[in-house]
Amino acid sequence: MKIARAVLAALTVLGVTVALHGQVKERPLPRLVKKDGRYALFVDDAPFLMLGAQVHNSSAWPAVLPKVWPAMEYLHVNTVEIPVYWEQFEPRQGQFDYTAIDALLAGARQHRLRLVLLWFGTWKNGSQHFMPEWMKLAPDRYPHMVDKNGHAVDSPSPYATASLEADKAAFSAFMRHLKTADPQRTAIMVQVENEPGTWGSLRDYSSAAQKLFEAPVPPEVLTAMRVTPAPPSANWQEAFGPEAEVCFHAWSVARYVGQVAGAGKAAYPLPLYANAALRDPIKPGAPGSYESGGPTDNVIPIWKVAAPALDLVAPDIYMSDSVPYLKVLELYHRDDNPLFVPETGGGPGVARFFFSALGLQAIGYSPFGMDYTSNRLAPAAAGSADANSREQFLAPWALNYRLIGPMAGEIARLNFEGKLQAVAEEKGKATQSLSFGPWNALISYGAVRNSHAAGNAEPIGRVFVAQLADNQFLVAGFYSRVDFRPTDTEKHRQFLRVEEGVYENGVFRFVRIWNGDETDWGLNFGAEPLVLRVSVATY
Ligand code: DGJ
Repeated sequence: MKIARAVLAALTVLGVTVALHGQVKERPLPRLVKKDGRYALFVDDAPFLMLGAQVHNSSAWPAVLPKVWPAMEYLHVNTVEIPVYWEQFEPRQGQFDYTAIDALLAGARQHRLRLVLLWFGTWKNGSQHFMPEWMKLAPDRYPHMVDKNGHAVDSPSPYATASLEADKAAFSAFMRHLKTADPQRTAIMVQVENEPGTWGSLRDYSSAAQKLFEAPVPPEVLTAMRVTPAPPSANWQEAFGPEAEVCFHAWSVARYVGQVAGAGKAAYPLPLYANAALRDPIKPGAPGSYESGGPTDNVIPIWKVAAPALDLVAPDIYMSDSVPYLKVLELYHRDDNPLFVPETGGGPGVARFFFSALGLQAIGYSPFGMDYTSNRLAPAAAGSADANSREQFLAPWALNYRLIGPMAGEIARLNFEGKLQAVAEEKGKATQSLSFGPWNALISYGAVRNSHAAGNAEPIGRVFVAQLADNQFLVAGFYSRVDFRPTDTEKHRQFLRVEEGVYENGVFRFVRIWNGDETDWGLNFGAEPLVLRVSVATY
């Protein structure tokens, strides 16, 4: 009995509660919760912040996983985003191969990681490249879309009934398997398809699609888009003018994806989402300049109404400038949509926007292409045997997660309770201010001792401030300075106690008190993870 207890204790420490008879105990289902207008992803019945990283597209094969896990360890992620390939999963129609999924679950558990599984099904970046061979070889049964001139496009038709039925069957088999193979809830969320939609044609021009395009727009679409056309029975062209084709294709694709999601959810109700290849958020180009049919910002309401089985739609953000980046975060942080960034990339400075996402209560964040396979996108960094060079690419992201990792649960809770604000440096703006009732937190960048803040040479600063009590704050960040000012301008701030600490198992452990040079010009954050608990008063 003593031995059994010891085994149980060891397994519990490994994050797996095991009943004594050897059966793994079912953990609560991950779920999205909304309270007072804010969302949280609950995992094991508590708010959870996904510190994620997504691997390259072809890195989910069992033989390649040894190049994934060490990168995840270096990054300090708690969640890996990784594909499940339809072509691997269903090599012959109706025969499902669970080996790759099982390898992901086993590997993730061994490395104490959660998974977001990406269903590379009917759509992958607008194409059908991950459909199994038996589908690719039967284009009459599983057709491509047809463009204006009647030519086949490299994109699946959302009106292909046999493809829809095949995807529903495969996706539900995958979800059913997860249900039985994953009582631990290692997989906490699933992405349905990948950047669904179409490049190269605005919509399907097959006769089935054409007929619907000329028919009245379903009233729920008009309501969702807040459009009141003159004749209530307006067709798509009449109702949406220049955006008619994009709106119609969004409705067509979303209904298809929604049915796949619905079938999967009926098998196993994990949180589900779809991701978007974006259009320019500041100066959106005309239809045709961006992927048509996906959940771009202009058609989110259509996706919501056409695919209710999806819990959210999410932006893949490949932008380096703060103006468009922040605008995208704002566009996908909606009352009906929790913010989640499943893919992001760009220069090293992009890592700072993780903090901007935290400032909008993001439930998770995930840079793309984070493994040690050799890849055309990061050839120098990724394949190198030299750990230092291959890790250079990951370093700015790792820095964020080294800081936030030990307190991720606390951050998720504070955010869900509306107590946290966070910002990233914007070029040309050396200061920012956050308001916390009687206090303003002043953030500045590039300040040395009592010199004026000049901004960092490159904008890399980032900070969060969370209000723990009326006059107490948790503060952390990089390359920045934080100070506090009472809103009552007659009064001055004094530091009562500035504690440096470290988080261990979610609890702040005191290390030392900062005073003198460490506080005289404000609280300075540099290149190393640092957490302060700050008590202030006025005089
Ligand atoms: C966006 C896609 O969703 C990813 O799968 C990947 O193809 C990246 N683009 C970059 O290559």
